Amino acid sequence: MRKQKITKTSKWNGVGPKVVVDIPGPRAKKIVERDSKVMSPSYTRAEAIVASDGWGCYVRDVDGNVLLDLSSGMFVLNYGYSHPRLITAVERQMKKLTHFAGTDFYYESQVELAERLTKITPGNFSKRVYFGNSGAESVEAAFKCARWHTRRPRIISYTGAFHGRTFGAMSLSSANVLHHRNFSPLVPGVSFMPYPYCYRCPFGKECPDCGFACIDFIRDQLRKVVPPEEVAAVITEPIQGTSGYIVPPDGYFNEIKKLCEENDWIFIADEIQTGLGRTGKMFAMEHWGVVPDIVCIAKALSGGIAPIGATIAKAKVMDWEPGAHASTFGGNLVACAAAIEGMKIIEEQNLVKNAAKMGDYMFKRLKELEEKSKLIGEVRGKGLLLGLEMVKDKRTKERAPKERNMLVEEALRRGLIVFRGGRSVIRIAPPLIIQPEELELGLNIFEESLREVERKV
Ligand SMILES: Cc1ncc(COP(=O)(O)O)c(C=O)c1O
Repeated sequence: MRKQKITKTSKWNGVGPKVVVDIPGPRAKKIVERDSKVMSPSYTRAEAIVASDGWGCYVRDVDGNVLLDLSSGMFVLNYGYSHPRLITAVERQMKKLTHFAGTDFYYESQVELAERLTKITPGNFSKRVYFGNSGAESVEAAFKCARWHTRRPRIISYTGAFHGRTFGAMSLSSANVLHHRNFSPLVPGVSFMPYPYCYRCPFGKECPDCGFACIDFIRDQLRKVVPPEEVAAVITEPIQGTSGYIVPPDGYFNEIKKLCEENDWIFIADEIQTGLGRTGKMFAMEHWGVVPDIVCIAKALSGGIAPIGATIAKAKVMDWEPGAHASTFGGNLVACAAAIEGMKIIEEQNLVKNAAKMGDYMFKRLKELEEKSKLIGEVRGKGLLLGLEMVKDKRTKERAPKERNMLVEEALRRGLIVFRGGRSVIRIAPPLIIQPEELELGLNIFEESLREVERKV
């Protein structure tokens, strides 16, 4: 096994992960206790990490533990924690003007950000941008826009999809019944199709010999259940995130795009987790050369500085009338300043290329682990968005949720943050700024943690 360095690892300040007290430590425990008395019980806090400060790929908790975060603060901190350029850009903006009513008047940064987004999203056609405050709001806007434009009541989504928790976005989601329980009636008109989850094919077939049975299924539904002329749009994540980084086979989305063109449906790509360079392309749909009509982004857009979501649509699709949709804080000055600076960082520092390069290395190392490990059934993903599906038995593919949880906890004990997904998947999504030393260190810790779990089970 490669030697693990515990100190002097960070290009940014040379600290490295260091666990000085069991997590949660005494200070963290007190805050968690206070939290349990006043905060909504609906949050799903898996680990009791209580943050204090952060830099680069590292976050320090309130007890002084320094953790290497290979989840990018849940896929938000593409530029790492507290990027100095983002802070300077935001400070500059705040000293000048903190708020102006962007829904009723104008300011330049909204326009500049919109111009930048129309340039980097796929499709060489004129586009328009709507700004909201979150991923869910970005999806709501896409959903409403598709209905408004087509005047059609139905929409196709996928089993295992996660698009957010507002009523519209929740109605399009089916990653967990918890998101629906006791909230009915949901927004009507949503038909869920099986996602192409080839490792566990819903049709029991093997890719690529299946002849896209999942597409045949949709075509059959269009004959028997869902009148295609009533469908406004298809919404999909290019790679399902919450359900465990499930990557559709090559050619799948091209078939879906064909269906959209045949039936005049709008193709909505929810790139909230996959967009802005994370998968080694600016947008994940580019891996298959598929051009969506609407792209939803949020999470990494402002680098975690201020809430923002954006819905970028073909100009002829986003044709709703004034007043049809707006939000007081959507695309606010501070978020726009951070997002514009972020766009410059991506470009100047070649972060998309870095994501592809670091991602290739990570994929190779994790694939080697898959070969050696009895618990890793499949490593999959693209760029810096990789998932490991954990199984009790590689032949039967029986899920291993307990072992998965043990591995996440074991890694955390060693100062490494990785994240759960699906029923027995570990998600790894380091910041796009990650350099070889940090990645190597993180993967070494991950490998050691895996060995420890394999020793225990
Ligand atoms: C693919 C996807 N869409 C939408 C959302 C919702 O985003 P938000 O939590 O900002 O509303 C998420 C959040 O995890 C997501 O991963």
